[in-house]
Amino acid sequence: MGTPQRDVTIDYTTAQKELLIEKHCAFLTGYGQSHSTYQYGVTDYLRMSGIYWLCTCLDLLHSLDKIDRNYIVDYIQKCHDKTTGGYAPAPNHDSHLLYTLSAVQILVQLDRVDMIDKESLCSYIKQLQQEDGSFFGDQWGEIDTRFSFCAIACLKLIDSLHTVDIDRATDFIMSCLNFDGGFGCIPGAESHAGQIYCCLGFLSLVQRLDRVDLSTRNMLAWWLCERQLENSGGLNGRPEKLPDVCYSWWVLASLKILGKLQWINSEKLSKFILAAQDDETGGCADRPGNIPDPFHTLFGITGLSLLKVFDENTIKQVNPVLCMPEYVIQRQGIAMQLL
Ligand code: FPP
Ligand code: ZN
Repeated sequence: MGTPQRDVTIDYTTAQKELLIEKHCAFLTGYGQSHSTYQYGVTDYLRMSGIYWLCTCLDLLHSLDKIDRNYIVDYIQKCHDKTTGGYAPAPNHDSHLLYTLSAVQILVQLDRVDMIDKESLCSYIKQLQQEDGSFFGDQWGEIDTRFSFCAIACLKLIDSLHTVDIDRATDFIMSCLNFDGGFGCIPGAESHAGQIYCCLGFLSLVQRLDRVDLSTRNMLAWWLCERQLENSGGLNGRPEKLPDVCYSWWVLASLKILGKLQWINSEKLSKFILAAQDDETGGCADRPGNIPDPFHTLFGITGLSLLKVFDENTIKQVNPVLCMPEYVIQRQGIAMQLL
């Protein structure tokens, strides 16, 4: 017996079919400026990633000129924790690898690598690596393959991979590989498309995708393309979950790394992403009819970028591993492995 699918019903005869670029740009810039709202006040614990989502999405939509670069660079400096060497999501918060990666991504994207104190950043990341090769996310000791990805992505962006023990870090990632070909957050944890992206992204950055053998790669690509739901055409992150626009990134980027993007029905998925746009406020929601947010707006746009349903004058090409505009990765001369 197969695994039952849960899905949503979308009326594609009335759903939004055009890409609402102007509205998305207004939604994103407005989000960054509405400092007095409740929403802004309760999201400071992830602000740095929020800025990364805004900047990346605006850049992909050819609208990076709409942000105040100096304000953002100043803000990032205020979030730099001089004691640890990492970055916090907001001033006076604790540093964490998640927000350190977002800060580094923004500075690289804005061509301000000169603002990064490489030495203290490298020592911050190095001291988070454990005996088994895994990484703590911060001083409190949570381990997750997301943090392995963040550590390696930061180091790759500043050309300092040699700082940590790559072989052990790779062994830890491989210890999170499951019988179904997927990866989880720690050894034995269930396969999840977000963690699969992190683990494949990690292996791509350290050029060790050969650690996943051919039959496992095929099984994994099959698991990933089974995330596409029959009725809506959207992707979920695990069996029996509802479709969600952000999985247009986690799943598609993983398939792109494996060289199997064509295993997805691109027409059905792009219809689902376009239907999740809010035609009043701009922005994309997790699924059609829900409230939009910058996270799902970015991953809707990056999903469409990977699917190449629009030309590059509409949506710039995104890098499938670092989730940054491809021109930035080329400018920095960063190389990675894609199958
Ligand atoms: C789903 O999360 C996504 C993940 C587990 C992957 C997150 C990856 C990072 C933070 C690494 C950096 C990412 C980029 C793009 C550079 P969820 O909590 O929404 O999962 P759920 O759908 O199961 O609730
Ligand atoms: Zn989501």
